[in-house]
Amino acid sequence: MIKVKVPATSANIGSGFDTLGMALSINNVITFKEIESGVVFEDIDEEYADENNLIYRAMLATWKYLNMEPKGVSISAEENIPISRGLGSSAACIIGGILGAMTMVDKNLANGQILKIAMSIEGHPDNITPALIGGLTIATTVNNKIEFMKLDIKDQYDFYAFIPPFKISTEEARKILPKTIPLEDAVHNVSRAAMLVGTLMSGRQEFLKVALEDKLHQPYRSKLIDGYDELIEYLKELKLLGHFISGAGPTVIGMAERDQNLGELSFRDWEIVKLNIDHEGAKIIKSV
Ligand code: HSE
Repeated sequence: MIKVKVPATSANIGSGFDTLGMALSINNVITFKEIESGVVFEDIDEEYADENNLIYRAMLATWKYLNMEPKGVSISAEENIPISRGLGSSAACIIGGILGAMTMVDKNLANGQILKIAMSIEGHPDNITPALIGGLTIATTVNNKIEFMKLDIKDQYDFYAFIPPFKISTEEARKILPKTIPLEDAVHNVSRAAMLVGTLMSGRQEFLKVALEDKLHQPYRSKLIDGYDELIEYLKELKLLGHFISGAGPTVIGMAERDQNLGELSFRDWEIVKLNIDHEGAKIIKSV
């Protein structure tokens, strides 16, 4: 039996569209058991219990990459990462599936190889990278290869995830983005993203609010989030250090100083979860 733990992730972090991402302190734990042949799902929602299951697709892609025949597998998952809320549930399935598949056949792929397989399914590097290596990461593709690094950041914040009861698919949230953007919007984001990296590494949080500003995706995606404007007003009252749409949304994350007392939090029927950065990333926690 093999167990793999994979953290939630928040991609983009405001200005770092499709580039920055961080791992957060909620995890999915996926269990793999070898069986004679085919695939069996245990305790997995019927909607996801077929051969299109992302965990299983990632396993098949891994065995193909390794030039190996698929193994028979029974998959079960303890899913704590909310689905289609912008918190990296897909990336967690993909990274979990790859780690499970390689462990089942006693192979040890390098991070670059794992990300290459993951990228062939996910399409963006900014969730899969922190899901695999943890922390706050920069990731991009150069000639189809993911180049990535983990930043040595000052870990001085709490992250409050405001998670609405509704889902938004990444596909829908990408469709709404413009195909081209004005040069000044590009410059706006380049400067903020550079400042964000500097701010997070130096701990100079006075720049955070500006550094999180974005013109590439949030102005468009916020329109898909019912209650967004009201939430932003609420976050302003809380005097947070900054906020951003997590990944493709609809979750919005507010940043506060570590252990800052924000009092009792409540917004509509949204779930509010206090999170921290997960520095470890995905882990194979049991293999017997
Ligand atoms: N960077 C991606 C996006 C993350 O914002 O669309 C979701 O996969």
